[in-house]
Amino acid sequence: MTLGIALLALSCCESASDKPVYLDEKKPLELRVEDALSRMTLEEKVKVLHAQSKFSSAGVPRLGIPDLWCTDGPHGIRPEVLWDKWRQAGWTNDSCVAFPALTCLAATWSEEMSALYGKSIGEEARYREKDVLLGPGVNIYRTPLNGRNFEYMGEDPCLASVMVVPYIQEVQKNGVAVCVKHYALNNQESLRHEYDAVVDDRTLNEIYLPAFKAAVQQGGAWSIMGSYNLYKGQHVCHNQYLLNDILKGEWGFDGAVISDWGGCHDTDEAITNGLDLEFGTWTDGLTMGATNGYDAYHLAHAYLERLRDGRASEEVLNDKVRRVLRLNFRTAMRSDKPYGSLCSPEHYEAARRIGGEGIVLLKNEGGLLPVKADAKKILVVGENAIKMMTVGGGSSSLKVQREVSPLDGIRAAAPAGVQVVYERGYVGDVSGSYNGVVTGQDLSESRSSAQLIADACSQAADADVVIFVGGLNKAAHQDCEDSDRYGLELPYGQDAVIKALAAVNPSLAVVIVSGNAVAMPWVEDVNAIVEAWYGGSEAGNAIADVLFGKVNPSGKLPFTFPIRLEDNGAHALGAYDPKATEAHYSEGIFVGYRWAQKHGIKPLFAFGHGLSYTAFEYSNPKAKRSVMRADGTLKMSVTVTNTGELAGKEVVQLYIKDVEASLERPEMELKAFRKIALEPGESKVVEFVVTPDMLKFYDPAKGDWVLEPGRFVACIGASSEDIRHRIGFEVK
Ligand code: GLC
Repeated sequence: MTLGIALLALSCCESASDKPVYLDEKKPLELRVEDALSRMTLEEKVKVLHAQSKFSSAGVPRLGIPDLWCTDGPHGIRPEVLWDKWRQAGWTNDSCVAFPALTCLAATWSEEMSALYGKSIGEEARYREKDVLLGPGVNIYRTPLNGRNFEYMGEDPCLASVMVVPYIQEVQKNGVAVCVKHYALNNQESLRHEYDAVVDDRTLNEIYLPAFKAAVQQGGAWSIMGSYNLYKGQHVCHNQYLLNDILKGEWGFDGAVISDWGGCHDTDEAITNGLDLEFGTWTDGLTMGATNGYDAYHLAHAYLERLRDGRASEEVLNDKVRRVLRLNFRTAMRSDKPYGSLCSPEHYEAARRIGGEGIVLLKNEGGLLPVKADAKKILVVGENAIKMMTVGGGSSSLKVQREVSPLDGIRAAAPAGVQVVYERGYVGDVSGSYNGVVTGQDLSESRSSAQLIADACSQAADADVVIFVGGLNKAAHQDCEDSDRYGLELPYGQDAVIKALAAVNPSLAVVIVSGNAVAMPWVEDVNAIVEAWYGGSEAGNAIADVLFGKVNPSGKLPFTFPIRLEDNGAHALGAYDPKATEAHYSEGIFVGYRWAQKHGIKPLFAFGHGLSYTAFEYSNPKAKRSVMRADGTLKMSVTVTNTGELAGKEVVQLYIKDVEASLERPEMELKAFRKIALEPGESKVVEFVVTPDMLKFYDPAKGDWVLEPGRFVACIGASSEDIRHRIGFEVK
């Protein structure tokens, strides 16, 4: 039965249930969309394709189709801004819970944590009556200087692809759409509106598209955000190849493509190259202008004119409108949505759990951590022990109901009678506001840096343990949107403070609060190092849980920490140039550990690395067979035993090595992982199923993925450089 007849059949029985089809939620979505479409005028169709305010687009009031409301961001629900300004609306009931930044979620390597994250942030968005959450971000970590890496899920397409799916599914169960961003190739902030990403097809398909493909095909994302940059000379917010050919064509995406705010630059391209919903445009339709009249948007009057004079087809228009209606029916118009919740105890608990599972224990010699129960004096040093990190960093900035600082967390967790002393150690960024949200902190400091170091060292001398909390922050050219970092080094003279403290007291633990890798020239002088990420509202409690051993750390690095910048592919080839309007991804597929292993470069800390307070043994590696059919699968397993005294979690990682291939391949590539919990002495058999897709590479000559028969090795281990067992097999 064709759609038309179905509609006819339905409309005739409409009299039966007088409710119009598009309003009847029991009817199939596509029929409701067609029915609504058939009732809309040309003007109404165009009106739903662009913003009407800073974060909302129009519905169809005449038909009772509501407006769509979007909100940032990936880590929490942005405070309300004025109708047409970025400025705060000054509400007093829109404070939120800040969940850990997505590098921390990725570092959990736990689909369970991703689901918990999506559920929690989806409930906050729902409670705030938002229809589209502008996140998560899954741009691949190409350079440690990218200002927005903290919003993304690391350097590996397999890790990001697996971790993004539960977040999406759980957010959307609330009747809130995700808007997965920034599709695609937005891997730096320098010249983000102008640079043209020059990437070969194989690299595009093997590295930069997979997480978005998983978001669409496994996650079922209801909207995708086009990125600011260009690809093949076209802005990606209206890009024939990425939006029409790949996203909507090959992948079958049925949702709406939403522009990044101000990412739409051309009316004709916006019409023909796959943009469905235009936001944030700063133009009068023809030239750049400060007046932001929404009718002056590309997909507004300019589009209406082209439709009326026949330059634009109504068929293309209808496809856009269908996508926006689908988005609307799945969210704003859905009546059976849960109510959501805001700042609930469950959300704080979720933030703390995710933080605790994402914190990575990078080094722990002499058993310095967890802090010994008999410690009497703990010295905490560093601006990042006290500085609020939920304010700043760009569009992911939040107005939190509360934020527990590392110092607060340590003070709350320290046993009774333990003295916790604080010293500033260094001065970093003393600003305390972003976009009208103020932290209320006074970080002013009159002492010189020499005095600050002297004061910290004098307190360190008789401390049982010294905890330095430093790293980066959300200021410009740190971890911040619209600017990249200038280098890998820790800013604000932190290296000198760490070296001075290490010389005074070897019981020094360094806690790095950051969303990016940093250089550690003092790595040999320090016994314990922790990467704590941006933990959000519960940051301090999550950090204290790990430092005091209430949580046994199980996080693993989602990206490589190179010793020096030149150890990173893009930088080794001089292929990252913040002043160039072309970004040549010359390192190709050799991103992160792929580059390090190809060139035999030892990283400071490897992708997938993370220690525990206990130890795990891998034994009894097994494969069902030694030969795998090209259209079959191959079961493998390994036994993992907790050989220590404490319960703990381990992430068992499966990397695949293709021994011989017609094209150069990385030494090994992550293809699966399992996070398991083990009591002391407990063993579990961890099973993997090797599939043909895990063995393929993208052959640009064929424009497709290929599996070449031959020898492969399954490398199973605790990190990309800590492979415990190798299982060779043959593909026939
Ligand atoms: C910003 C960001 C995007 C954000 C949007 C709305 O420029 O690139 O991630 O969601 O605009 O604030």
